[in-house]
Amino acid sequence: MVKIAPSLLSADFSKLAEEVASVSSADWLHFDIMDGHFVPTLTFGPIVMKALREKSKLFFDAHLMVRTPERHIRSFVDAGADLITVHAEASTHLHRYLHTIRDYGIKAGVSINPGTSEKLLEPVLSDADVILVMSVNPGWSGQKFIPSTLPKIRWLRNNFSGIIEVDGGITPENAKEAVTAGADVLVAGSAVFKRPDRTAAIAALRAACE
Ligand code: DX5
Ligand code: ZN
Repeated sequence: MVKIAPSLLSADFSKLAEEVASVSSADWLHFDIMDGHFVPTLTFGPIVMKALREKSKLFFDAHLMVRTPERHIRSFVDAGADLITVHAEASTHLHRYLHTIRDYGIKAGVSINPGTSEKLLEPVLSDADVILVMSVNPGWSGQKFIPSTLPKIRWLRNNFSGIIEVDGGITPENAKEAVTAGADVLVAGSAVFKRPDRTAAIAALRAACE
């Protein structure tokens, strides 16, 4: 069954604990970590994750959109991440970073931008627990899903036995296409946090995939 991962980036940051409580019917909570270098925008760091860790039982999914992910792995482990995902484009020693993450006893993920080939991941397919396919260019929520992502998900489904996560522009209208292509986890920022009833928004995404 599909898992839904609301992205905190679209939440109201003046009341984060309440926002997190409002998505307790989801499966994962997605944290978009941006450094102003790998992507132009800045968001938040492990301090925010740590503060929320005691408020939620959801699986904490750290998506590191940062230029030197290896510097931040340990602090997200300490903050309570269940999964840390690094970008292939930012990882000079991707194989090593994936094993560093796994050695902490949590899941290791690798992400690719829309302009990056999925075939680049072939040498590390057995070293990753999760592959996060970006379906928008990272940096902002509220963008439109890029359909050329779908064949990439299909190739990965045929070649990777782990978890495939899709991130960006997911709505009840395109959720099923992503799942049919092979996605296991759908990240949704606007489609959950920009709706007044989050439980209904999460249910609508699940229902769309049936
Ligand atoms: C984009 C982030 C996404 C984003 C998703 O850089 O990685 O997780 O928050 O937001 P929506 O679902 O609104 O595209
Ligand atoms: Zn993300």
